[in-house]
Amino acid sequence: MLQIIANKLAEKQKQGLLRSLNRPVGIDFTNNDYLGLANHFEIAKTAADAYIKNGAGSKGSRLLGGNNKIFEEIETWLANWKGTEAALIFNCGYSANLGVISAFCDSKAHLFCDRLNHASILDGYAMSSGKLHRFKHNSPEDLEKALKAVGTEDFKLIAVEAVYSMDGDIAPLKEYANLAEKYNALLYVDEAHSDGILGPGGKGLTAQLGLENRVHLSLTTFGKAYGTMGACIFGSKLLIDYLINHARSFIYSTAISPGAAVAMQKAVEVATRDNFRRESVLKMSANFRQKIQEAGFDCLQSETQIVPVMLGTVEKTQKCRDFLLEKGFYTACIRPPTVPNGTSRLRINITAAHKEKAIENLTENLILYIQSL
Ligand SMILES: Cc1ncc(COP(=O)(O)O)c(C=O)c1O
Repeated sequence: MLQIIANKLAEKQKQGLLRSLNRPVGIDFTNNDYLGLANHFEIAKTAADAYIKNGAGSKGSRLLGGNNKIFEEIETWLANWKGTEAALIFNCGYSANLGVISAFCDSKAHLFCDRLNHASILDGYAMSSGKLHRFKHNSPEDLEKALKAVGTEDFKLIAVEAVYSMDGDIAPLKEYANLAEKYNALLYVDEAHSDGILGPGGKGLTAQLGLENRVHLSLTTFGKAYGTMGACIFGSKLLIDYLINHARSFIYSTAISPGAAVAMQKAVEVATRDNFRRESVLKMSANFRQKIQEAGFDCLQSETQIVPVMLGTVEKTQKCRDFLLEKGFYTACIRPPTVPNGTSRLRINITAAHKEKAIENLTENLILYIQSL
């Protein structure tokens, strides 16, 4: 039996796809701490005080002994911040996506999923018994074709990301909201990589486009721009009540500690107040992208802090990654199955914690690399 497992790992290694745990060395361009808040003293101190006051853990699922006034107060505060009727904290974005997708997709439901949606949305579907329709990335036309083919009375859920985690491009959310209304579907937006960065005060793409009343459900993760951990689903009271009753990852899991929820709230306060963080991330990433595109690199349709540098094969991507590592830059080599075959790339995340000089040096080295080919 163990030999079968060993063979599977050996096969991955042969394909250059074996994953291992590495610690960043040099200047890190792989992390999601977009606003540079992961080591923010005010957030850490507020969380530490809350841990000391309330304990390090919680006592069970929110439905069985693990509920706490702090969660309810912070959910009300978060819902107010986002401008929705209700909010529900989950342990992380992965578990929130499992919960939402599997809760809504029973055997009569249809899930319409952008081809590049995150693994957690697909894993939520794997737990469900609905019918999956994957449409072309960022293509309202392809989504409409799929919607048209389904009965008008059938339950339909459209799931998209606001900013795509491996491409850094932005979803055509207004078009999706129009289609959701036209075909009587629910629209779910995963704002994992847009919250904190886009929109007024960093309230995400939904707020940037004024779609608060047209998006039915959305996800914020606190482990990315907010530098903490955990996640929250926003929506109407009806939909949140439904999740409390049907989202298995919410029902059957111990709640996060109240201190972690306090950290979420503090991080949102700091991120909202410190406009300079999101402004500098967007400005630095636009400069970086423009310079490397002028040098001949393909950055797909990226418009955000996530800058893919398309190299095509796994070998070419690893070679470029190793070249940069030697010069002191730690970048992420993104390979299948995370991205489709033939689209391996470096994923370079620009954050507010980066110094402009470091980004300039990275740019120069990438240009040196492309000139040496
Ligand atoms: C688009 C998207 N949704 C959800 C998640 C999961 O969030 P978390 O890291 O909080 O589990 C991720 C994380 O990589 C993501 O990229």
